[in-house]
Amino acid sequence: MKGQFVTFEGLDGSGKSTHLQTAGGWFRDAGCEVVVTREPGGTPLGRAIRGVFLDTQWERVDGRVETLLIFASRRQHLCEIIEPALDTGRHVLCDRFTDSTLVYQGLGRGVDRGVIEQIDQLATGGRRPDRTLLFDLPPELAQSRGQSLKRAAEPNGIDRLDSEDLAFYERVRDGYLELAAAEPERFAIIDSSGEIADTERQVRQALADLLAGAA
Ligand code: TYD
Repeated sequence: MKGQFVTFEGLDGSGKSTHLQTAGGWFRDAGCEVVVTREPGGTPLGRAIRGVFLDTQWERVDGRVETLLIFASRRQHLCEIIEPALDTGRHVLCDRFTDSTLVYQGLGRGVDRGVIEQIDQLATGGRRPDRTLLFDLPPELAQSRGQSLKRAAEPNGIDRLDSEDLAFYERVRDGYLELAAAEPERFAIIDSSGEIADTERQVRQALADLLAGAA
């Protein structure tokens, strides 16, 4: 049986990455082989592209350049990690995928949706996840949570996109909610504005059928 391709999406500071690690643990505890990965990144080449993509020394980078970098990393990730895992029956839990590009480069940076879709066709054939968990919360809250976490982890851990203003993140959040409304069968919206235990309960519910199948 093919594995399921599940993505975790949301603003920086939405808690998606923490919950992704927790969810990976649930699958492993249930005796299921699962691949936990992220974008940009996921492969050695992808990690090198991630370093370039997030480096603050470039300051302003053209939105189409960002899109090309991201899709270069994504194609390698699909070919090297994601599709081979799914083909051998493993589930893949991935931190961000093309929905991030549609909202960050599309609505955040103003890259035309048609341009993103053309590059997407070339790089992935328009591949979409089987399921997407969208961690939703107000951008002000995401920003304060995200930055305090980064400061705790490393004193200078602010990347290039962290320096965007609140209006950028408002466009990104609205864009995510529009994507979810357009494909309700793929998206589960997780309200991540509350306590971590409450968010975790919603994540578990959104993955309950896959976890039951893993047992
Ligand atoms: P991520 O690793 O999720 O950041 P964080 O650890 O801060 O939550 O993603 C890194 C940044 O890359 C994030 O600000 C979003 C951005 N990004 C895009 O702009 N477009 C994309 O397609 C992807 C995958 C990420």
